[in-house]
Amino acid sequence: MKGKIIKLPDPEKHLDFPLMEALERRRSIRKWKNLPLPEQELSNLLWAACGITKEKYGKVKSKRTAPSACNSQEIRIYVIAEEGVFLYDEENHQLIKTVSRDIRKEIGTQKMMKAAPLGLVFVADLSRMKSPFLRSEEAKRFSAWVDTGYVSQNVYLYCAATGLGTVVLSLVDRDKLHHLMKLGEEEKIVLTQVVGHSG
Ligand SMILES: Cc1cc2nc3c(=O)[nH]c(=O)nc-3n(C[C@H](O)[C@H](O)[C@H](O)COP(=O)(O)O)c2cc1C
Repeated sequence: MKGKIIKLPDPEKHLDFPLMEALERRRSIRKWKNLPLPEQELSNLLWAACGITKEKYGKVKSKRTAPSACNSQEIRIYVIAEEGVFLYDEENHQLIKTVSRDIRKEIGTQKMMKAAPLGLVFVADLSRMKSPFLRSEEAKRFSAWVDTGYVSQNVYLYCAATGLGTVVLSLVDRDKLHHLMKLGEEEKIVLTQVVGHSG
């Protein structure tokens, strides 16, 4: 059912894995088992990617695990799973279903990506880029790409530390995916990233 909310379990923030080893192990993996990620794993992964680390206070905005230009926090994550498409609502650490269709075959255009068990789609919500320093289209575009890089690297490091396989993708049919995901005009797909149990 569209609009359905899935409250995620609290993220486990005490993962005991050395950061330097995660950096050493970080790798792009392109083979996965067709197994779903447990909810706790997804909760940890999304929080690591761009979860809230400091709640908003009055007019002071919240902070996230990933930096963003002028703290715009414009990169939103959509999760593409077998059950459909879900928006990660980081303020409430929950998923909101936006599409009830399995569109995993569209996460990437390479043949091997058709077997992707789960995809993250990094979408820049331009309506969140309100700073005067980000007025031009060029500034918006550059910042969105850079900010996506931080989120993606957080995913890479979480996967390296937990033994999951992941790869970030720019070979994506963005127009098709935008249409299938029913995104708004201000929402621009930057990159996607496959995550799963390594095959
Ligand atoms: C912006 C960006 C786009 C990428 N797009 C793809 C892609 O579409 N398909 C793919 O298989 N790998 C993609 N990669 C992964 C790179 O091929 C990979 O990072 C590189 O070969 C180095 O390997 P490593 O990540 O294992 O160190 C992309 C990486 C980045 C940073």
